[in-house]
Amino acid sequence: MARPNVAALGGSSLVQHDLVVIGGGPAGYAAALYGAASGLDVALVEEHLLGGTCLHVGCIPAKELLETAAVLRTVQDAAEFGVGAVDGGALEPVVDLAASQARKQKVIDGLARGVASLLAGREVTVYDGTGRLGAAHVVSIDHGAGDPTLVVSEHVVLATGSSPRTIPGFEVDGTLVMTSDEVLSLDEVPDRVAVIGGGAIGCEFASMLADYGSTVTLLEAAPEILPGCDADAAKAVRRSFRKRRIDVHSGVAVAGHQPGENGTTVRYGPAGGGDGEGTELAVDLVVVAVGRRPRGDSAGLVGTRVVVDDRGFVEVDDRLRTGEHGVYAVGDVVDTPQLAHVGFAEGMFVVRDLLGESPAPLDPATVPWCIYSHPEVAFAGLTEAAAIEAGHDVVVSSHRFAGNGRAMILGEVDGLVKVVAEKDPDGRAGRILGVHLVGPWVTEQLGQGYLAVNWEATVDEVAAFIQPHPTLSELFGETVLSLTGRSLHG
Ligand code: NAI
Repeated sequence: MARPNVAALGGSSLVQHDLVVIGGGPAGYAAALYGAASGLDVALVEEHLLGGTCLHVGCIPAKELLETAAVLRTVQDAAEFGVGAVDGGALEPVVDLAASQARKQKVIDGLARGVASLLAGREVTVYDGTGRLGAAHVVSIDHGAGDPTLVVSEHVVLATGSSPRTIPGFEVDGTLVMTSDEVLSLDEVPDRVAVIGGGAIGCEFASMLADYGSTVTLLEAAPEILPGCDADAAKAVRRSFRKRRIDVHSGVAVAGHQPGENGTTVRYGPAGGGDGEGTELAVDLVVVAVGRRPRGDSAGLVGTRVVVDDRGFVEVDDRLRTGEHGVYAVGDVVDTPQLAHVGFAEGMFVVRDLLGESPAPLDPATVPWCIYSHPEVAFAGLTEAAAIEAGHDVVVSSHRFAGNGRAMILGEVDGLVKVVAEKDPDGRAGRILGVHLVGPWVTEQLGQGYLAVNWEATVDEVAAFIQPHPTLSELFGETVLSLTGRSLHG
């Protein structure tokens, strides 16, 4: 592998690489690792921590803390399985968030060491500082002190990610009002919580805090929680949340909050209905989870043809190319699903594209989605409504986990599997367009649904496969089988 060349530019040294990546989150480090694995001399510029949002204030810490919630539920339900304390009493678990946070940090540190050693192993040059792309593909790296380092490369990948969005009237102070960044460092369980926003982040936090013992109210502006999910899936989550006393209010607008001696009071009312101040809700913590803002403007870009739109996204074509030849953008900073695994795929895609391998563009409509609330949600492909809107004549089938043996054994019977298929001219179900799962471990069960959608498999093809028994994934097999016109257990 070629080592960096150093050239002179107006007195400053200019280090040359084959590929410079700005941003070391999943999308950026994937581009760097995959580029290096392809024989390129790669530089990666990161201003904070390698691993980005996903590793430090996103997927990994969130799922770690959700696992504490899962362990707590298991211990709470232990007596039902005949497991108790040595003295014959019931197990009475409590959450020690300090211990949970320490475990979380251990997992993060281990993974962060892994990313750093993979990059070192592939001889990626990691620059510590803020990278700004200017004219002629020169990236200036500001280290905070001393002279900037100047690097140049024929190919530059912008992977500057996103940060939590906030809303007027809810200034984040890290005490009464938090975004995901702060919630993931909670060291005490709050008594009463308002979660604003019922997307993936809002639902995960609502679920986690309710399990920890908080009284949770979820305030969502849209008519239903989990926008983008199939309506039946969202309804199943809502039903399950209701059983767990998570108070969900959709179609509401929040107007602001008034701190008092004891926490704060959130004002909200019907969305679009006057001043939106009809109801007051006293809480100890407000969690704002209303989406993430792309950081398109954080990599300089002065003197380039890269365009950042008014929402903060870097504009790209379907090959993730910006307006500047040789400059790509990937991950949360482009308007594709803001998911770490989409970032990985985009990072690898641009390397293949710049190498001239003509990879097929990624289809945002068929990527896998996984939400780790309790119950979990996982899906790939079109919802029933989206399929109809796209002009498909559809046939659907749903089956509930309540009838699944493994789910009963686990004591986790909330949720369903729904398969959306295209209706063939003969009226029978044909190609599988969407697979929607809610329930136990569905994030680990999505694999075959994802493959079915992306391989454009038909229900007849998938129904021919054997599902191991007893498993949760039998329910997917059963649902597909029923779409053939004959079923077994359903
Ligand atoms: P989101 O865009 O998925 O959901 C935000 C929700 O807030 C929407 O339902 C929206 O209607 C609502 N909202 C917006 N303004 C509001 C207001 N003023 N009052 C009440 N509700 C309001 O964003 P979220 O959940 O913050 O996640 C950000 C990104 O990160 C998303 O793309 C998400 O998919 C991704 N993510 C995915 C995860 C996963 O797949 N497990 C986990 C965490 C994040």
